[in-house]
Amino acid sequence: LSVSVIALLMAYLLGSLSSAIVVCRLMGLPDPRGEGSGNPGTTNVLRIGGKKAAIFTLLGDSFKALIPVAIIQLLGGSVELAAWGGFAAIMGHLFPVFFKFQGGKGVATWFGLLLGLYWPLGLLAIAIWLSMAVIFRYSSLAALTAVALVPVACFWLLPSAMLPTALMAVVIYIRHAENISRLVAGQESKIGKKS
Ligand code: G3P
Repeated sequence: LSVSVIALLMAYLLGSLSSAIVVCRLMGLPDPRGEGSGNPGTTNVLRIGGKKAAIFTLLGDSFKALIPVAIIQLLGGSVELAAWGGFAAIMGHLFPVFFKFQGGKGVATWFGLLLGLYWPLGLLAIAIWLSMAVIFRYSSLAALTAVALVPVACFWLLPSAMLPTALMAVVIYIRHAENISRLVAGQESKIGKKS
């Protein structure tokens, strides 16, 4: 078994730790899979448990990609291998081996991966998300915009990450199918509002 395969497997396992489920359990909140949008992710924890719980979820889900991506590069792995490591962490988040393969939508994990890969790219993604969130107040729309623009930005900033980030965009879009239908129908819930 090559070192690269082991690194990807470790990243997948780390990604499988769902911060939303763990944080809600530790803080005595309802299981995010049965409340709000039913998604074990930062946005839904914000809905269910408020800002503090959401911040813990965001940090946990970001670091589980940032750490393997940073370690792969510190050990001399290429940017491309690190990006695939981040992709493996996202796949863990989406299909967690510890939670019957029913995970979240990957956005917080994706931010961590970008920050670990090349921090200006991470900051750009955060800036796009924040601008869209401030203007439209939909977490999903902010994420979908950032996720689509990052592979384009990679063309100039980090060409070797173009393919992995494009594939991440496809996976994250598929995962947001219900959000996209709700956005189109004008029924998506806004940040800061109940339901
Ligand atoms: O990051 C997830 C977000 O884009 C949507 O989450 O709970 O509104 O489906 P949610």
